[in-house]
Amino acid sequence: MSIIRKIKDYYKFSKNKLLFTTPSHTQGEFIIPVMKKMLGENFFKCDFSEIEGFDNLRQPETIIKDLMFQISQIYGTKQSFVLTNGSTSGIIASMLALLKKGDSVIVARNCHISIYNGLVLTGANPIWVMPEYNPDWDIFTNINPDKIENIFKTNNKIKACIITSPTYEGNYSDIETISKICKKYSAKLIVDEAHGALLNFLDTEIQPAVKSGADISIHSLHKTAGAPNPCSLLHISQNSEINPDLIQQGLNLINTTSPSYPLMLAVEATVKYLASKQGKTKLKELYKNISDLKKSSNKKINYYNSRYADESKILLKIDNVDSMLAAEILNKQFNIEEEYTNRKSLLFITGIGTTKNKLNKLKAALNKISENKTLTKTVNNLSENRFTIPKACYTPSDIYNLPDNSITEIPINYASGKIAAEPVAAYPPGIPLVLPGEILSNDVLNQIKQLCEKDSIKILK
Ligand SMILES: Cc1ncc(COP(=O)(O)O)c(C=O)c1O
Repeated sequence: MSIIRKIKDYYKFSKNKLLFTTPSHTQGEFIIPVMKKMLGENFFKCDFSEIEGFDNLRQPETIIKDLMFQISQIYGTKQSFVLTNGSTSGIIASMLALLKKGDSVIVARNCHISIYNGLVLTGANPIWVMPEYNPDWDIFTNINPDKIENIFKTNNKIKACIITSPTYEGNYSDIETISKICKKYSAKLIVDEAHGALLNFLDTEIQPAVKSGADISIHSLHKTAGAPNPCSLLHISQNSEINPDLIQQGLNLINTTSPSYPLMLAVEATVKYLASKQGKTKLKELYKNISDLKKSSNKKINYYNSRYADESKILLKIDNVDSMLAAEILNKQFNIEEEYTNRKSLLFITGIGTTKNKLNKLKAALNKISENKTLTKTVNNLSENRFTIPKACYTPSDIYNLPDNSITEIPINYASGKIAAEPVAAYPPGIPLVLPGEILSNDVLNQIKQLCEKDSIKILK
């Protein structure tokens, strides 16, 4: 039986039951007035704990197990997990399941902070791989499979490889090739597909990671698929040898013991909607509206276009207009907020809730900006060597576990040759210039001075 059905049935057949259990609003019998006004009564009516007939996300046996089974059927996986703590929890749980202290793991340098946190928690030793960089758009794109193969050739006993695909800006890596390489060296492949939750439901050439050979993929349903924050999914692919119990154990190490039924209900509703005829039509409409926007915009507006990129991420630049200035005008004059702006381009994230009307307003604003002859472009010189990976002396876990008194802060000008005790990244694009435990070379310090307004830095004493 589904979670939605179970909750409906509760009110049909058991509503007179007196629950002396958590949560303490007792299914909305008392709701603090502001919450009632802002969230409505139904949210509380759907909020249960593990009462009789309901299930337990830590050890699903009935309705949650059924939901997970239905989701795995829809996605064609060996097993799928419902996450009510975001992709963050799925990423960390996968790492806890597959990695032990001292294990080596290939990690894309553009990884989300949750992967770094997973390194701290597992004690694994990262071997960083730099994604390709596109200077025309100031974005990181795919991971070159050759770089992965080279790492395997020179390091033995690598347990896993973790990459982000698609990236924030929608660029996919060649998961099929990377997964073959990982299999050749008996390593597991985890793909952070947080931004690719719609992919399973689109008619495109690009296949979802779990259908391209990845062992695990993780989706944020809240980012693009219409679910509330932070509804997510973790999938183990049909052919993976990973034991699902290990993932459950990993999740149980970090998850709350009071998972939200409203969020689980939202996961069920979202996945079923995406898989329905209605959902597919809605997604087709979204992609058509975006394509229309791109085709009908003023020719001075250039849209990022790649066979390996998701069209729903609108990355653009305007001829002769500085990107930062364009973002400022959009915000101040047109009341339009973009996801982020880098030194070359602006990113607008769309999703199931992006209407044609909203896209038309964006187009009108962009057209106006592109026609303004008084806006001039400033030239951004990007330093090429800022993408080198510094040498590490400590793993993320080892440096995290050093006593607080081993860290001090000194002026950047005196930091050459010291070991960083804090991460430094220039946002966007957000790749760390240095991570804790890595050596601050003159190159790295010059990049930090050039790209970040930072006078001092935390180092190991
Ligand atoms: C690439 C990537 N992975 C993982 C996450 C974490 O997702 P969640 O917010 O669902 O925990 C994010 C969030 O911004 C992300 O951008």
